[in-house]
Amino acid sequence: MAAQAVVAPSMMSDPESTTAKSSTTQEEEDVLPPKDFVAALPVREGWSEPLVQYKNYWFRPRLLEQILLVQHAFVPRADDIILATQPKCGTTWLKALAFTIANRSRYGFSDHPLRTRHPQHVVPFIEIPGAGPNHTDIHTLPPPRLLATHMPMSLLPPGTRSVGCRVVYLCRDPKDALVSRLHFENKAFQGTNLSMDNAFSMFCEGFSPYGPFWDHCLGYWRESIARPDNILFLKYEEIKSDPVPVVRKLAKFLGIPLTEEEESSGVAQEVVKLCSFETLTSLQVNQVGGVRHGDKFFLSNSVFYRKGEVGDWANHMSHVMGEELDRIVQQKLEGSGLVF
Ligand code: A3P
Repeated sequence: MAAQAVVAPSMMSDPESTTAKSSTTQEEEDVLPPKDFVAALPVREGWSEPLVQYKNYWFRPRLLEQILLVQHAFVPRADDIILATQPKCGTTWLKALAFTIANRSRYGFSDHPLRTRHPQHVVPFIEIPGAGPNHTDIHTLPPPRLLATHMPMSLLPPGTRSVGCRVVYLCRDPKDALVSRLHFENKAFQGTNLSMDNAFSMFCEGFSPYGPFWDHCLGYWRESIARPDNILFLKYEEIKSDPVPVVRKLAKFLGIPLTEEEESSGVAQEVVKLCSFETLTSLQVNQVGGVRHGDKFFLSNSVFYRKGEVGDWANHMSHVMGEELDRIVQQKLEGSGLVF
């Protein structure tokens, strides 16, 4: 993709730039249009497009503009349910599961909307405008709204906390998330040909889209401990190894626990089956087509599915690299109680 931001040459390959201080001030943020404000932030190249650093995190410039806009424009409702993830941690899967659980009294499993609509399109992102008629519009959703975000906890629009929105956070072993990210970058962004070595060293420095990876996880982890009724913290691996209890947990958290009748008729198992990697990837809607964003970027529907496995990292990076990343992440999470 074409770079949108002004690249500060001094920061292009300087590892220290991950901790560089923003050259902008709160006053500038308050008065400048988001585009101008974002253009003045520290920039670093390396991924498919340069990323800008804002309040500790790295973003694609256009997405940060959207995030800044929704800080003021998004009006949360107390019954909103927000699905929060870092990209490549299972957003598509979580959207499918939450949508199916939340709407189970409305739709039968055989003629379910997920058979003809992509999970990414049925749950809209707060900060990413939908493209095309297939996308659900945030404003037309009946309550309680199911919404998604990649925003870090610290950047969620402030009202979401004060009105008490519930948040489901899904994270994943960073090694698998990194491998998934590398494949996504090379497939989704034309002309990108990132190597594992480069992606690995950037990721380990905390330089990745929405990264540092560990800080994103920690923000929601700490909040889930402080406000367990409002934040449900899940791991991809936990859903993979035993999905049925997670469906129950999700249904309870969403305020619509499975009834005894649903339990005995196997509703949780039906939800798991419909949302499984195997079922979703067998559907035409997830194999063909896609969404055009602007005139340069086409996001195919199939790009959100690759292997859907735990531990695929071992096929793409050495054990030494795996141990190195584990060591860094362990150090960053030390004392928090969060482990991968
Ligand atoms: P892999 O690249 O490791 O296969 P996101 O939805 O956040 O972009 O994450 C994409 C990752 O989730 C990809 O991981 C993708 O294959 C996996 N995924 C998508 N749908 C899934 C499903 N229904 N079950 C399990 N994993 C799924």
